[in-house]
Amino acid sequence: MKFFNSKRLFEDAQKVMVGGVNSPVRAFLSVGGTPLFIRSGQGSKIFDVDGNGYTDYCLSWGAMIYGHAHRNTALAVKRAMNYGTSFGTSTKPEVDIAQFITERIPSIELIRFVNSGTEATMSAIRLARGFTKKRFLVKFDGCYHGHFDDLLIQAGSGVANLKESSSLGITQNHIEETISLPYNDVGTLEETLKRLKDDIACVIVEPVAGNMGVIPASKEFLTALRELTHKYNIVLILDEIITGFRFHPGGVQKKYNIVPDITCLGKIIGGGFPVGAYGGRREIMQCLSPLGGVYQAGTFSGNPVVMRAGLATLKLLNEKFYESLNKRSLEFAQTLNEYFTSQDLPVYLEHYGSMMSLRFTKNGASNYREAKQASDGKLYAKLFHHLLENGIYFPPADLESFFISGMHTKKDLNTLSETIKTFFTERKSI
Ligand SMILES: Cc1ncc(COP(=O)(O)O)c(C=O)c1O
Repeated sequence: MKFFNSKRLFEDAQKVMVGGVNSPVRAFLSVGGTPLFIRSGQGSKIFDVDGNGYTDYCLSWGAMIYGHAHRNTALAVKRAMNYGTSFGTSTKPEVDIAQFITERIPSIELIRFVNSGTEATMSAIRLARGFTKKRFLVKFDGCYHGHFDDLLIQAGSGVANLKESSSLGITQNHIEETISLPYNDVGTLEETLKRLKDDIACVIVEPVAGNMGVIPASKEFLTALRELTHKYNIVLILDEIITGFRFHPGGVQKKYNIVPDITCLGKIIGGGFPVGAYGGRREIMQCLSPLGGVYQAGTFSGNPVVMRAGLATLKLLNEKFYESLNKRSLEFAQTLNEYFTSQDLPVYLEHYGSMMSLRFTKNGASNYREAKQASDGKLYAKLFHHLLENGIYFPPADLESFFISGMHTKKDLNTLSETIKTFFTERKSI
């Protein structure tokens, strides 16, 4: 495989963009080699500037649930663009998608659209603080909620690759106001919320964590979280930026039967365009300006092209779609795990529906500590390049999730399964 054009572009990019990228993990620091410059995508495939094709399992970090360049989404975007792209006023597409989402996620009584997941979580936290008049924020080790100062403490995703446990540039105030607890640990949660109830404004959680590999919250943990936050007048924020519309139109909250105070959405709801949203209980949302005193605004928020792209994508995601995607994903995971067990390999495919990650241990992980213990950056880098050489694109860092889209066929999945098996079989025989 030749990467001549990607290499040349990366050299040019480094002269004018920080590290040659606009988001750190794209630089391939964890896996080495030349970061790919992608020219196009269609369905489950992407193509780089050297003409190499790959089956894509990164899928814009989970956003492209129906693969790339779906006809309906492309058509909706073209139509919307003919009417003009931004007005800084309200538009009908915003109302259409807001109605669609609130009908499917009933805990969202009122919604506000923004331009990224980070904006959604950041604004939700400000809103929670404004509503409760309290200041502390509780999050969980290894969860990632975007690059807002309060949230870059013990975070997963790209932050996990920093030398420090948190980003530089975060002031002491932010560090003091953020409490990061172990995921899935009911005892520590209970003790902390009870002790600091008068100061904790909100708890934010990924109900199925995807930024320390996949770790589903236990039912017991989420139930306790709901009960305790309710009891202590703490706002519960479910970060469904990855999980929203990935397994079910009602989000993970429907599967777990949890009603949060605020839900954050992003990724899938933009149909491949920059987007975020947060919404929840009417009483809380009404504290937002223009109804209330918590300020949050945006020139491009609710952009009509984005809203049309999002709605066109969401309309493709009916029950049959999820049934088929979840079934294919389950079969794929079972096949690989049976193989790992039969070969006595210390590898495990963790998954929740079509959201997956590989652990280099015989069992899964239930928190960040275990996830780190079960990670092996060097081995993952070798696997990443083995897959790349075989025309498969995975996330370029260990401890990230990979995804299956509605456009991945059984054949795609069989090829992935066989390519992973070959990698581990060859290593075993060395
Ligand atoms: C769970 C979760 N929340 C928030 C974010 C931040 O979203 P964005 O990258 O759109 O700012 C991410 C990004 O990966 C995420 O995975």
